[in-house]
Amino acid sequence: MAADSPVGVFDSGIGGLSVLRHIRRQLPHEHLLYFADSGFAPYGDKPEQAIVARALAISEFLLQRGAKALVIACNTATAAAIGALRAAYPAMPVIGVEPGLKPAAALTQSRTVGVLATDSTLASAKFNLLREQIAAATGVRFVTRACVGLADQVEKGELQSAASALLVHRYVEPLIAQGVDVLVLGCTHYPFVQPLIEQAAMRAGKPPLAIIDTGDAVARQLLRLLDQHGIRHQAGDGGALQGFTTGSRTTLARAFITLLKIDPAVTCISVEAELASGK
Ligand code: DGL
Repeated sequence: MAADSPVGVFDSGIGGLSVLRHIRRQLPHEHLLYFADSGFAPYGDKPEQAIVARALAISEFLLQRGAKALVIACNTATAAAIGALRAAYPAMPVIGVEPGLKPAAALTQSRTVGVLATDSTLASAKFNLLREQIAAATGVRFVTRACVGLADQVEKGELQSAASALLVHRYVEPLIAQGVDVLVLGCTHYPFVQPLIEQAAMRAGKPPLAIIDTGDAVARQLLRLLDQHGIRHQAGDGGALQGFTTGSRTTLARAFITLLKIDPAVTCISVEAELASGK
């Protein structure tokens, strides 16, 4: 693999842009392919096997476009499919994202941490193993909350709406009432509604000590692995970015502009058709 090949980044939709922004900051020379599977979102209520099938098809598409490494910028897809992707591409760096329970456990003073994520992530064996390990090692209690519908609100661009605020309040308030003082954002869509999460915690009586988002750590891990493989692109002008979506082209283009203040080329595609044609 050549250093000037792109890194492939994907999510069920636009949530992965909260990871992509850290990758662009830490690795400004990398060429990037961003894939939003918005036509199939949300992943959070889909069976694990369906998510694995999507992750494999999208990865194959990104590889056909020359990807030298894969970032699964989605907690739900990481929990379901990172094992299958690593088995399918053993020589390639595959980086996933998981809820930041460890940093949260180091910060909490009430010894009670709240985790906001999708149903699928919270039900996964991977998440439950992590939770048991960190709880056993630190004595911290993790209170989880599946935020049904919240990723959809972000997909719709409703980052400030009354409906989103109500939903966030419904999920955050019971956590604060249970003594949570640190909140973990266990879905890459949620950093985009962090102001609503902060407001909901304030309304429930207590501003959280910290809200943990792992985008920055994922970018650092990508940098480390590219270095280890000797394929970090370290020179040249800023890296090029291309967007692909299985949903609406306008939605992804607008998300790039409003969330990251950039305006890359965006193509609307069907993964299955592209793979079948071998393009
Ligand atoms: N962004 C995804 C995550 O990090 C999931 C959202 C969804 O599609 O349900 O879990």
